[in-house]
Amino acid sequence: MDKLIVEGGYPLSGTIAISGSKNASLPILAASILTDEPVRISRVPDVSDTNYMLQILSQLGASVERSSGTVRVASPDGISSSASYDQVRKMRASICLLGPLMARMHRCTLPLPGGCLIGDRPVDLHLRGIQALGARVRVKGGNMLIEAPNGLVGTTVDMRGDSGPTVLGTDNLMMAAVLARGTTVIESAAREPEVVDLANFLNAMGARVEGAGSRTITVHGVERLHGCDYTVIPDRIEAGTFMVAAALISKGVTLTRVCREHMKAITDLLLECGHTVEFTEDGETVFVKPGEHPKSGKILTNPYPGYPTDMQAQMTALFAVTPGISVVKDTIFPQRFMHCAELKRMGANIKVDNGTAIITGVEGLSGAPVMASDLRASAALVLAALAAEGTTEISRLYHIDRGYEMLDEKLTALGAHVKRIRELDTGSENSAAH
Ligand code: UD1
Repeated sequence: MDKLIVEGGYPLSGTIAISGSKNASLPILAASILTDEPVRISRVPDVSDTNYMLQILSQLGASVERSSGTVRVASPDGISSSASYDQVRKMRASICLLGPLMARMHRCTLPLPGGCLIGDRPVDLHLRGIQALGARVRVKGGNMLIEAPNGLVGTTVDMRGDSGPTVLGTDNLMMAAVLARGTTVIESAAREPEVVDLANFLNAMGARVEGAGSRTITVHGVERLHGCDYTVIPDRIEAGTFMVAAALISKGVTLTRVCREHMKAITDLLLECGHTVEFTEDGETVFVKPGEHPKSGKILTNPYPGYPTDMQAQMTALFAVTPGISVVKDTIFPQRFMHCAELKRMGANIKVDNGTAIITGVEGLSGAPVMASDLRASAALVLAALAAEGTTEISRLYHIDRGYEMLDEKLTALGAHVKRIRELDTGSENSAAH
C-alpha cells in the first residue's frame, strides 16, 4: 500500500498535459471485444482501472498489447462469456462488459457487483435495458446469468432511474444494441462526453449509433463490426482536479490536451468563485490561477452538463480554505462525503448532513496523516495537502492510482513537493473499487 508524502505550501507553476479519459477508456476497451478484428486505441491512461480491464479482457481470451498509451486488442472467436468474481471485484466498472458479451455471445455470467464506499451502486437499470432487448436474467451464487438464446432484438427502453440517467447503463445498452436485430431507442440516456466517445468508437467500428450526447440515442443494429484506430477524449475529471489545484495554490498553471466544452460546469464555478480561467481559442489549453479575492460557492451535482459528482470532493478542498460559507450537495451519490472527515483532521470546518456538506472557510489547513477512501476523495486530500502547512501523509494511495495517471510526476513537474513511499502490501487487492 503506497503512501504519498506531501510537503505543503509550495505554489504550483508550469505546464502539464492531461491524460486520456479513464471513464471513456473503460467502456471503449470493453467494446473492443465486439469484433474479431484487431482494434487500436490511443491515449488509454496507464492507471490501475484500465489495467484491470485489460487483465479481464485477456482472461476472457482476447489478446492484449499495450505500449506507451496505445492498446491493441484482438478478440478471436472462442472468447469466454464468463468473468470470475476475483477478476471483477477489483473494479465496479467491469459491469460494462455486460453489453459487449451479450451482443457477441448472447449470454454471459458476471458477478453481481457489491456496494462500495460511495453508496449502494445498484445495477437494476443495466438489467432493465438488457431484459428489454429480450434477455433473461437469473441470479445464482452471487452471479448474474444472462442469456438471450434467440439473440437480442431492438426496442424502445427508458433508462431513467430514481437518481436520473445512468452512464454505464446507457453504455451497456448501446453496446448490446449495436449487433441486435432492428432498432433500439434509448430514452433518458446519459449525455456525458464519455457516452459520446463510446458512440463515436462504435461508429468507427461500423455501428450505426445516432443521437449520443442527447437524451435519446437510436441504435440501428448491424450484422458485424470491424477493427479500427481510435483516440480517447481527454480526462475532464483529471483536468478539473488540476484546475482546482491551480486555483488553490499556484502562480498560474497551464493544462494542455483539454476540451473546453467538457469543462464548462467546472470553469463556470471557478470563475464565479473569483479565480482566473482562460482557454486558448481552440479550447484545448487552459490557464488557471487563484483569484485575489476568492469567494465561497454552491455545488449541486447533476448529470452532464451539470456539475459532476466526480468533482465535488476536490472543490470541497478548495472551499475549505475559501472565506465564507460554501455548500456542496450530491444528488447522485448522497453518501459520497468520506473525504470530509479527513479534511477536518487537517483543520477544515465542515458539517455533513443528509447528502450536503456545509463548509466554513478557514485561514489555513495543517498537514496530518490522512487516509484515502475512494478515488476522488483521495484527490481532494492531495489538493488539501498541497495547500496545508507542514507535511501530510496520505495512505491507501491505491485509490488514487485507479484513476490519475502519473499524479506524483505531474505534481512534481508543477513544483509540488510530493514523494511516493512504496510499500510491499497488496491492500488494493482487498478493496471493492467503484
Ligand atoms: C459513472 C462513472 C462514475 C461517476 C458516475 C456518475 C465510469 C466508469 N464511472 O459511474 O465515475 O461518478 O458515472 O456520473 O464512467 N443507478 C441505479 N441503478 C443502476 C445504475 C445506477 O439506481 O442500475 C444510480 C446510481 O446509484 C447513481 C446514479 O444512478 O445514483 C448514477 O449512476 P451511474 O451513472 O450509473 O454511475 P456509473 O455509470 O456506475
